[in-house]
Amino acid sequence: MVTKEKLIVFDTTLRDGEQSPGASMTRDEKIHIAKALERMRVDVIEVGFPMASVGDFEAVSAVARVVKESTVCGLARALKKDIERVSEALEFAESARIHTFIATSPIHMQRKLRMSEDQVIEQAVAAVRQARQYTDDVEFSPEDAGRSEFDFLCRVIENVIRAGATTINIPDTVGYNIPHQFGDLLARLIENIPDSDKVIFSVHCHNDLGLASANSLSAVLNGARQVECTINGLGERAGNASLEEIVMTVHTRQDVFPCITGVDTRQIVPTSRMVSTVTGFPVQPNKAIVGANAFAHEAGIHQDGVLKARETYEIMRAEDVGWASNKIVLGKHSGRNAFRTRLHELGVAFDTEEELNHAFANFKDLADRKHEIYDEDLHALVSETSYEKSEYFKLVSLKAQSETGEVPSAKITLLVDGEEKIAEANGGGTVDATFRAIEEIVTSQSQLQLYSVNNITTGTDAQGEVTVRLQKSGRIVNGHGADTDIILASAKAYLHALNKLEAPETRAHPQHDI
Ligand code: KIV
Ligand code: ZN
Repeated sequence: MVTKEKLIVFDTTLRDGEQSPGASMTRDEKIHIAKALERMRVDVIEVGFPMASVGDFEAVSAVARVVKESTVCGLARALKKDIERVSEALEFAESARIHTFIATSPIHMQRKLRMSEDQVIEQAVAAVRQARQYTDDVEFSPEDAGRSEFDFLCRVIENVIRAGATTINIPDTVGYNIPHQFGDLLARLIENIPDSDKVIFSVHCHNDLGLASANSLSAVLNGARQVECTINGLGERAGNASLEEIVMTVHTRQDVFPCITGVDTRQIVPTSRMVSTVTGFPVQPNKAIVGANAFAHEAGIHQDGVLKARETYEIMRAEDVGWASNKIVLGKHSGRNAFRTRLHELGVAFDTEEELNHAFANFKDLADRKHEIYDEDLHALVSETSYEKSEYFKLVSLKAQSETGEVPSAKITLLVDGEEKIAEANGGGTVDATFRAIEEIVTSQSQLQLYSVNNITTGTDAQGEVTVRLQKSGRIVNGHGADTDIILASAKAYLHALNKLEAPETRAHPQHDI
């Protein structure tokens, strides 16, 4: 039997994924997702960019303390202060990686960095040397490698390998490459760079042309042994290569790939749901692997074929990627212990007994309205409970009315920084009336960019999950809310987005100057 090489799965949902406008996550949300990634047996989890903000620093530090099975990674520009900060954040990690980067393409060096080639090499080498003082696991990325000049790229990489880098990541930062070209780039780098066999070559592809997964897989066929990816393909602009596509392609096409991942593929769908709930980014129904229609057969001829032999139209089994885990877990009569135990199995722990009690009260309330509570319901409930902790605008009550021939109306009571306020409004429908009533009180001056409703599970008693995207002064936030009553879910989502706008944003972007 031929032993396959390991393909390292590096998840950057919590770092690059979070760079999607509106997808920012709190410390607790990052912990929640990091534990799910660890359960999935992802090898490396990139949690954030500690220099960006105190919040990011705390999230990296908190995840570093709780995650034991995966390597925890933090991002740093090739700057002394960034590397010091990331090393502090990773201090208590069982296994820590520092990922440092500097741009190497002519346009980035000339227009953004205003640095010469020699200066870039000097800074890259200094950063890697400094990072090696804190950990033996140092990754270096020549940003925009996909548009860098080949000979210069080789020089940079040769130098950082000599300085101690252990992983060399080749980013197609702007998603410009096409599969055969990107694969060829990897093959040529590995062939031309001295000591290339002493390091792991990695790739990090963006999806601007919809080719992120194809480019990454082409690189794997040409020697890359780490892929950087995100759940649901979340990420800057059009996103990153999606973890589920990479992992399932490699698993499904073992006749083609000389390597295999260690991922527990049954965790893919639950984790995809969790990321979607936390970020408020719904998964498109026709998304490969994790979309609601990925295993649905509409055409009669397909249904007939699948019933006779599944393989006629299915190349993977739905249960192998976690679709079958959609099981009833709790109900109206479940006690506090059963609730806590199931959440523990899902990797959710509460900081205090008071938080657990609060979540349990929300669960009982939901169970009164919904017979069967699924894992997906619990994920939605837990994220909501965590937002409620820090609400500036808090929903007290809502009455929405609609009747044939009458103008829809809503009356809302909010606590605004602890003070009760009431407003009423009419609207084109009850959702519109509710949002107008909220605005009577809040006067946010934000623009509604997106309103969408998805069902969390199936059935008419399912919770509707509403996503609301608001924009104000160039800042975009997503809010989400879940409830069996979609008007209430809409109000929760709107208030969640307003609460995000209320919180001061101090996060810097890793690829911009701070
Ligand atoms: O896209 C990119 O180049 C990055 C680097 C920081 C790896 O995200
Ligand atoms: Zn990126």
